[in-house]
Amino acid sequence: MWRRQQRADGPAAVLAIGTATPANCVPQDEFPDFYFRATKSEHLVGLKEKFKRVCQKLGVQKRYLHHTEELLDAHPEFLDNASPSLDARLGIVKAAVPELAAEASRKAIAEWGRPAADITHLVVTTNSGAHIPGVDFQLVQLLGLRPTVRRTMLYLNGCFAGAAALRVAKDLAENNRGARVLVVCAELTVLLFARPEEGCFQTLINQGLFGDGAGAVVVGADPVTTCGERPLFEVVSAAQTIIPESEDAIAMHLTKGGYGGNISARQVPVLIGDNIERCLLDAFEPLGVGAEWNDLFWNVHPGSSAILDQVDAVLQLKPEKLAASRRVLSEYGNMFGVTVIFVLDELRRRMEKRGEEGAPEWGVMVAFGPGLTVETMVLRRCPAQGTSTPDEEKLTAA
Ligand SMILES: CC(C)(COP(=O)(O)OP(=O)(O)OC[C@H]1O[C@@H](n2cnc3c(N)ncnc32)[C@H](O)[C@@H]1OP(=O)(O)O)[C@@H](O)C(=O)NCCC(=O)NCCS
Repeated sequence: MWRRQQRADGPAAVLAIGTATPANCVPQDEFPDFYFRATKSEHLVGLKEKFKRVCQKLGVQKRYLHHTEELLDAHPEFLDNASPSLDARLGIVKAAVPELAAEASRKAIAEWGRPAADITHLVVTTNSGAHIPGVDFQLVQLLGLRPTVRRTMLYLNGCFAGAAALRVAKDLAENNRGARVLVVCAELTVLLFARPEEGCFQTLINQGLFGDGAGAVVVGADPVTTCGERPLFEVVSAAQTIIPESEDAIAMHLTKGGYGGNISARQVPVLIGDNIERCLLDAFEPLGVGAEWNDLFWNVHPGSSAILDQVDAVLQLKPEKLAASRRVLSEYGNMFGVTVIFVLDELRRRMEKRGEEGAPEWGVMVAFGPGLTVETMVLRRCPAQGTSTPDEEKLTAA
């Protein structure tokens, strides 16, 4: 009995979303000039031409980056890949990541409509830092959260970090009646910044693909409408899977010069394509929801254009299905775990604009990262206030 009283009645739902980027916007077609000039690498003419071709293949039109030419000029050690620069890079993210995370969080809390002190749990993820106390601790002060807020900090989860944080938030919200969980993901790529080198293709991908940003989501079950809470998406189920024999496909680690490691750029889209349908079937079959892939709305982590193309091809999706993922990739680049929160925000804006008419009720979030790990989250669109979903109409009629 008391166990039941401790738990929420309904499923966790997304109650609000906020996003933020640094002010410095870099158009992709200007980036090769900036990058080769800032790294004093103009003499590598052939490599620059190759970089331009790679930049065009990634599906990115512009990105926001904390590291400007001025910042790089102030840190000549960032341009020497053999020089120790980790401390300086960590110093930059220690100050800047909490600020960006707080900006996204304030927007989410403002949309949610309740005081920040009503947040009971905080789940924070970043790959941009290695501090204790961490971003979670800084956010308590920056946002005016209660000192008793229950914090969970997830470091170095790669690109699946955002979906993993939402999965943890779902469990917290459903197992603690009245819990309101603030999920925050923030990334700055200054730890990844490196000078181009002949024979190091990974550096070209890192510099051409990844962007900076922060996303925040308030998650809670049993929304209190009298407090102005408005559920956007129910988080119906959440799962995580490791793709067999793929542990070397994405591997990163901190080094004296920032991040080291490797992404098997050509192998990653193929591995995802070979395994995504199994992950989706495992997610939908237990729910008894007959999933016709084109009947869903889609939030696929836009790792790169090639990854989205592979998902499209394997699942035979209609072109509009991955439009939100493609738009976020194009406008912001791959922001690691932050990206799925931007896509969630884009999806809800598209749904609000289009209205309830014809909008799919069921959807899915799929995120990928080191492991290779696949996070799969089944979502259900919540009707705008005053309307009901087709399933609810059937129930009311019965
Ligand atoms: C890397 C990627 C852009 C290549 O796309 P593609 O359609 O296969 O393009 P191409 O084969 O034309 O390759 C583009 C260039 O990169 C080069 N290239 C691609 N993979 C390479 C590798 N592993 N090593 C060296 N060069 C490579 C190609 O030789 C080509 O160079 P060129 O223009 O001088 O001929 C694409 O596979 C990709 O986006 N991969 C996923 C990236 C990723 O892992 N994202 C993060 C996951 S969360």
